[in-house]
Amino acid sequence: MEKIAILGTGYVGLVTGAGLADFGNHVTCVDLDENKIAKLKDGKIPFYEFSLGEVVQRNVDNERLVFTSDLAKAIKGARTIFIAVGTPPGKGGEADLSQVFGAARTIAETMTSYKLVVQKSTVPVGTGRNVHELIGKVLKERKKNVPYDVASNPEFLREGSAVEDFMRPDRVVIGTWSKKAEQILTEIYRPLYLNETPMVRTNVQTAELIKYASNAFLATKISFINEMSNICEAVGGDVKVVAKAMGQDRRIGPKFLHAGPGYGGSCFPKDTLALADFSKALGVPSAIVNATIAVNKRQRQSMLTKVESLVGDLEGKTIAVLGLSFKPQTDDVRDSVALELIKGMQKKGAVVRAYDPIAMETAALELKNVDFTQDAYEAAKGADALVIATEWNEFRQLDLGTLKKAMKSARVVDCRNIYDPAKLRDAGFQYLGVGRGFDGGPNGAPAAASGGSKAKASKKAGKAKKKGGAA
Ligand code: UDX
Repeated sequence: MEKIAILGTGYVGLVTGAGLADFGNHVTCVDLDENKIAKLKDGKIPFYEFSLGEVVQRNVDNERLVFTSDLAKAIKGARTIFIAVGTPPGKGGEADLSQVFGAARTIAETMTSYKLVVQKSTVPVGTGRNVHELIGKVLKERKKNVPYDVASNPEFLREGSAVEDFMRPDRVVIGTWSKKAEQILTEIYRPLYLNETPMVRTNVQTAELIKYASNAFLATKISFINEMSNICEAVGGDVKVVAKAMGQDRRIGPKFLHAGPGYGGSCFPKDTLALADFSKALGVPSAIVNATIAVNKRQRQSMLTKVESLVGDLEGKTIAVLGLSFKPQTDDVRDSVALELIKGMQKKGAVVRAYDPIAMETAALELKNVDFTQDAYEAAKGADALVIATEWNEFRQLDLGTLKKAMKSARVVDCRNIYDPAKLRDAGFQYLGVGRGFDGGPNGAPAAASGGSKAKASKKAGKAKKKGGAA
């Protein structure tokens, strides 16, 4: 049983703390925000994360999990300290590491015995070395010769399934520069080891890169399929079929090939920007990651074009938006496409009504002049178009008759491709998805999906005809 302190009680810190306590360790979760700690002591989780509440409660009840804002005390009482503080993007996209170095400095100023300092937050490659140097420097200033190690143990938690991802990870990555550090971390994760979870043991910098490489690759898969969706719109193809067939190739796999409005959230946007930034600083800029970022930006902006291609000038139009969180099963609206789309439509004079099963409270802090409604049908009332921005399950089986009656005009922009275009059209709706082919079948005019591709397609067709080539 290891005595652990976790600095930071966000998604990563709290899920890691509860999970490690569940493995039989003694865990103290620390946050400088006394409000947050008071709520946690009261059994309140400061954000929505499926099943996290009961894991926390279970471990608090059997006294394996405690909360405090007394950082020094927590550091003194633990041998292994996880740094799970925020690493938000700075102005130029670089990761802001001030909280990480602040935590490392406090550890160095407080420690009187061996400490294993573990980076859980996503940090640029090389941060482990900087943390190691900083701790050494502070100890020297204190004229203390206390042994310590630094390690990297990146997380791969998806919001909405973070507890599941912690308890049943595809792999545990342990990055160290010493056998002692490796042994301590292996011991901490022993329960996972017993059920054959693969353990990747490597050095610190490799572990740091594994995290970025994994997230950037997933983001690249998303930007790739979103580019394929634009080609589908130009040629009348169906990107869902393209993705399905691609995914049946075991080398590609079916996951993260859902075309949509572009990725959002607190990880992919931040991690791709940070990777682009530090790879450039290292003199080895990543062209692929830069392209992933550029494609994603365009994809997100193209959702507004889709709405305009259905309703024309947005001035005075009423648009209903279903879904505000950046993905289902979370109340997190950080970098949510829905919010970017709403602000863009409001800038063009649209009146926006919105509904989200969980995230209306968090969204209300970021939006102005939006009518939040109690359900999807109320949002649709009098709407010139309805936008499905987040694929919550309750939006997948809407009663089309009721919806049509509520709306002023039966138009749907399905940013998440949760509906069958033919079904919507048969029900009398104008339907635009993402990469769902032509409007009205194989000989129909190219979908007005994103104006540009239609114009380009017909110009190309014209040129090809002149040359006698196939359209
Ligand atoms: C991600 C990584 O999956 C996780 O391993 C890492 O630890 C943190 O970042 P998360 O950001 O919580 O997790 O959500 P995820 O489910 O990965 O979705 C990220 C974004 O990509 C969302 O905006 C989602 O809508 C979008 N997405 C995801 C797609 O557009 N298409 C897909 O096929 C999958």
